Amino acid sequence: MKHIIGISGSLRNGSFNTALLRAAGSLMPKDSELAIESIADFPLYNFDIESGVGIPEAVAGLKDRLEGCDGLIISTPEYNNSMPGVLKNAIDWLSRPPDDIDRVFGGLPVALMGATPGSFGTILSQAAWLPVMRTLGTELWTGGRLMLPKACNAFDDGGSLVDESVRERLEKFLQGFVQFVGQD
Ligand code: FNR
Repeated sequence: MKHIIGISGSLRNGSFNTALLRAAGSLMPKDSELAIESIADFPLYNFDIESGVGIPEAVAGLKDRLEGCDGLIISTPEYNNSMPGVLKNAIDWLSRPPDDIDRVFGGLPVALMGATPGSFGTILSQAAWLPVMRTLGTELWTGGRLMLPKACNAFDDGGSLVDESVRERLEKFLQGFVQFVGQD
């Protein structure tokens, strides 16, 4: 069984990116499962917190679970043609202290996807994550892409994925990623 962790870069209840991740959870290939983790309890990064109080519990717990998982799917919104601060803040916390980067991120298979009500499907946000993923030493999967433009049309009011073509694309994306994870 491949244990994949999913992180959404949006905190809002009606988030399209969280809805996309939930849809992914129900479409995972056999012998794989997706656990959706929250970054809502991460404080803003401040070295004074790190050196004084230490790594916050929510951060330390997710670091350990990332170390134990087989792969990570990040569902990223796009803000101002780049990644959203709340998700960058979370990844920054998860990369502390630097001595832990290798155990948490080193060689970790990572897939990027994203949803937006706009027309370009988070393409620039996903591109903005590339140097970050490289810096952390992850194994970024580049065998498939999932960009969801016009996301308002893909989900119903309850956040369920209702667009069949998006469902098919998502399923194929997940199959490709889990196959990549399985090659380790
Ligand atoms: C946005 N949004 C946005 N969308 C996009 O496609 N490209 C962009 O550059 C931006 N820029 C941007 C900046 C800021 C500050 C906000 C708040 C929003 C719109 C964004 O895609 C939209 O709010 C999504 O719904 C956010 O994702 P969730 O919360 O639905 O997952």
